[in-house]
Amino acid sequence: MSKPLPPGIERILFTEEQIQQRIREVAAEISEKYRGRNLKLIAVLKGSVFFLTALAREIDIPIKIDFLAISSFSAHTAAPGVVRIAKDLDDSIEGEDVLLVEDIVDTGFTARYLLQTLAGRGPNSLAICTLLDRTPCRIVQVPVEFRCFEIPDRFVVGFGLDYKQLCRNLGLIAVMKPEKT
Ligand code: IMP
Ligand code: MG
Repeated sequence: MSKPLPPGIERILFTEEQIQQRIREVAAEISEKYRGRNLKLIAVLKGSVFFLTALAREIDIPIKIDFLAISSFSAHTAAPGVVRIAKDLDDSIEGEDVLLVEDIVDTGFTARYLLQTLAGRGPNSLAICTLLDRTPCRIVQVPVEFRCFEIPDRFVVGFGLDYKQLCRNLGLIAVMKPEKT
């Protein structure tokens, strides 16, 4: 039996099954590309944690994981593009093959900042894997090596993505009604 949807949801964009299937495909691509290397997945708290755990379980090569937290102000607020690290990684990434795992790349400010910051720490390689890619809203260009889904310019929740810290625990991804965002 499916859980009732929270109020404020307009429609389902991707079902749990569609997400699971797509994550499996992307995990296979990642396993193939990084086989024999020292892969570390880095997730950005809190939204990306749901995607990281689902992705990690489908990857069939040895991996390490680490986390960082940022505070960001998106283009929809008064201070576009301002990002800072609120909690840093536990360990060094020097010489490792790092995959930055994101819930969504929107304007690109967050991803660009994190790529620049992590690149300065001497990883062997650095790339982005995102659950959602909203290319119509991109302001700064960032290379996205792996993506599960492209989405239109609508606010979405679920699978880690929040509206005012809620809805992260939805297994599906849904579009919010415009009046709620
Ligand atoms: P960017 O720096 O504009 O690319 O923003 C990325 C961050 O904005 C994400 O990590 C999310 O936390 C947040 N965000 C952007 N779009 C959405 C959305 O549709 N739903 C929930 N959070 C979003
Ligand atoms: Mg957020």
